[in-house]
Amino acid sequence: MQTSAAAPTLPSAKGPFFIGYLLDFMRDPLAFTQKLEKEYGTLIETRIMGQNFIVMLGPEANQFVLQDREGNFSSFGGWDPYIGKVFPGAIMSMDDPAHRFQRRIMQQAFKKPALTAYISTMNPKIASGIEKWKAQGRFQVFPGIKQLTLDLATGVFMGESLGPEADKVNKAFIDTVEASLAYIRYPIPPFNMWKGVKGREFLLSYFKKLLPAKKATETPDFFSQFCHATDEDGARFSDKEIIDHMIFLMMAAHDTTTSTLTTIFYTLAKHPEWQQRLRASSLALGKTQLDYDDLEKLEELDWVMKEALRLYPALTSMPRMVAKDCVFNGHALRKGTIIGVYPIHTHHMPEYWSNPDNFDPERFSPARVENKKHMFQWVPFGGGAHMCLGQHFANLQVKSIMHQVLLKYRWDIAPDYVMPYQMVPIARPKDGLPVRLHRL
Ligand code: HEM
Repeated sequence: MQTSAAAPTLPSAKGPFFIGYLLDFMRDPLAFTQKLEKEYGTLIETRIMGQNFIVMLGPEANQFVLQDREGNFSSFGGWDPYIGKVFPGAIMSMDDPAHRFQRRIMQQAFKKPALTAYISTMNPKIASGIEKWKAQGRFQVFPGIKQLTLDLATGVFMGESLGPEADKVNKAFIDTVEASLAYIRYPIPPFNMWKGVKGREFLLSYFKKLLPAKKATETPDFFSQFCHATDEDGARFSDKEIIDHMIFLMMAAHDTTTSTLTTIFYTLAKHPEWQQRLRASSLALGKTQLDYDDLEKLEELDWVMKEALRLYPALTSMPRMVAKDCVFNGHALRKGTIIGVYPIHTHHMPEYWSNPDNFDPERFSPARVENKKHMFQWVPFGGGAHMCLGQHFANLQVKSIMHQVLLKYRWDIAPDYVMPYQMVPIARPKDGLPVRLHRL
């Protein structure tokens, strides 16, 4: 924790000239951070693309940075270099007081009545979406789930179907996300940053066209809720803020949930006994679709989702910029330095998790509560002022989908199959996760 002791120099591991450890990080952020910890400890000065960067490992670092009681860190400084060109005005890269103001309005769209309405919109769409899956053969899980969550997002986020522009919208989202970690940071054709900026231009005009209708009537979708939400003082979003928030929200919600669902599919294919156990509890519930109040009844599904997010958090790391000189564990962090915290590393620390590489959902059970040793040892949704606003929505969506899928299908993979992960920018399988899907 923070101390006022003298501030010794940090161990330094800068890697190859200029590019530093970027490739190691992108290839395997878990192996990279574990190697750094083994050789240098939990606070390491490194370099990525010519810029000094401090890697901060472990739950205490997570707490110090994410809780940020003293205003030491800037989210704008951390995130904007990555996402600023494609997601300007994203709430995730705002600092106070603007962040507090925007979040107060935005959270109206995440309250229980709104969530209850979203789940009623989603349920029939989940049923018709998964009905189309091709059973009795090879099924590519990742693209299948991605299509499903995109279809759900257009209903729940925009209140309508995408129609003939569906492919363009989907492509624009993929391009904007890919641009966030593009090696070439300028929008030069045909590179990723250029595609991302073009994608954003398309999304801006797309949302602008829909705005007047959304403002005219209040409907149970995020777009309409953002148009009508007010904070306690009656303040509301401007048109520009509504569109910026919508574009960011679609990205924040879509890829993270797809990643989590894919991991759940994978772990349940590897552990058929757990697949059967979850199916049994879904059957015992006695209904084909979940309501908001059913969520807590599927306790084992909750452990599995938590375990999937522990093993493969959708966001493996979170960046910040040091906003004012401060001291952590006796080491000085200088204003202007970029730092990162790493949920994926903390989630595999043997000090906090028994056999951390094993899939063992019961570690989250009330009998074991392995996750309660430190408030910041399980942080797939972050923590503090920027903690994921969509956590409950993600729970709702992931569990509603898995409940319906478990009742309709069984799936398996070859026993020696290991899913090749691309962990950055958002965890996903490189091969789409091919499984054998059987209709029940
Ligand atoms: C399993 C799925 C999800 C995961 C793992 C996830 C993870 C995260 C994380 C780690 C952050 C914090 C980033 C930081 O502090 O730098 C975050 C922020 C955010 N997430 Fe999520 N997220 C998920 C789903 C969603 C969904 C479904 C939505 C919306 C419906 C959403 C909306 C947001 C928003 C608006 C923020 C920014 C909050 C702020 O800065 O105040 N997320 N998410």
